[in-house]
Amino acid sequence: MSESAAVLRDAKLAYRDGGIVEAEALCRRLLRRHPTSAGALHLLGMLHAARGDAAEAVRLYAQSLAYSPEQSEVWCDLATAYQQCGMSTKAIGVLVRAISIYPRRYRAYGLLGALYYQLGRIGDAADLYREWFRRDPTNVEVHHMVLSTRAGSDSPPRCSDAFVRAHFDNCADVFDERLIKRLGYRGHQIVAGAYKRSTPTLRGGVLDAGCGTGLCGPLVRPYCGHLVGVDLSENMIERARARGVYDELIVGELCAFMASRPDAFAAIIAADVLIYFGTLEPVMKAAYRALQPEGILAVTFELLAGSGPQSYRLEVHGRYCHTEAYVRNVLSQAGFESLHIRQETIRLELGKEAIGIVAVARKVS
Ligand SMILES: C[S@@+](CC[C@H](N)C(=O)[O-])C[C@H]1O[C@@H](n2cnc3c(N)ncnc32)[C@H](O)[C@@H]1O
Repeated sequence: MSESAAVLRDAKLAYRDGGIVEAEALCRRLLRRHPTSAGALHLLGMLHAARGDAAEAVRLYAQSLAYSPEQSEVWCDLATAYQQCGMSTKAIGVLVRAISIYPRRYRAYGLLGALYYQLGRIGDAADLYREWFRRDPTNVEVHHMVLSTRAGSDSPPRCSDAFVRAHFDNCADVFDERLIKRLGYRGHQIVAGAYKRSTPTLRGGVLDAGCGTGLCGPLVRPYCGHLVGVDLSENMIERARARGVYDELIVGELCAFMASRPDAFAAIIAADVLIYFGTLEPVMKAAYRALQPEGILAVTFELLAGSGPQSYRLEVHGRYCHTEAYVRNVLSQAGFESLHIRQETIRLELGKEAIGIVAVARKVS
């Protein structure tokens, strides 16, 4: 390995381990000797981007590409930096170019699809996801985005298990940070609060259905006996396990799990989980079966507003929304008495409040 390659390697390692100052010093040392080092310019750009100086990052990435255009990652980073500078048109141009040069490197498709969505260009996003899926036909997450952006057709009855597993396995590392810090997510607090208010003296078994990383766990732990979590994603379950508050954690599909445990729980909670189901009848039937007589169900949905004929719809953001009338109807059809149903902000979507439905119901035997 040449000396300059070794310096660049050390700079990358320092950056990976959070040694920003050391990484920058190494990059600058390298650039003094080799001003055209595309790798050092790229890394220096990343350091500036990490500090929030997107304009300088743009300059450095562009310089890196001028010396060595064959770097698909740098095109993607350049687009992201343009976007951070508020220059969406430039970002789109860069990503379109990156895709034309590297049609089988898929990071640019993901960035461009998200950008089209943010700009409300849903037709362009739909075309892009279709093209991506044509090239990458086993990618279940892309297939889900094809379904979500498909205009004017019926929504599938629910998300596939394969999509849910892949999607949450892939985002488990960043889930808490992204949802709570960036998207103001409060579904876990809402559900835990609703559960506590409805069952102040309850000490029985509680199922956290679709427990994810276990955000609900610590909030309900003091108010239940045996706490069980079930989730399709192994990586999410690993994070829930690290909290040390669940008595049992199961990797599995929640409807099948509930159907296999008749009369097992005094309460079932599900925060931000039924947004991966369109048709609610099967999941409500399974919840009814798993609850003990008088058992409590506390769940959230996202609201499908408007007065159209649909009860639910898979929206372009990839989650299902339901009408309040459908939620009320399906609960009562499944044998539940609604204790309270209200609308509340669950999270932000594109900077705006996403309104949810919070439902608390009791099993009527
Ligand atoms: C948005 S996360 C919410 C996690 C947690 N309830 C919270 O409030 O943070 C949705 C979770 O539901 C899980 N999930 C969705 N559909 C599921 C299914 N059919 N069976 C089991 N888990 C499911 C996902 O794997 C994911 O971890």
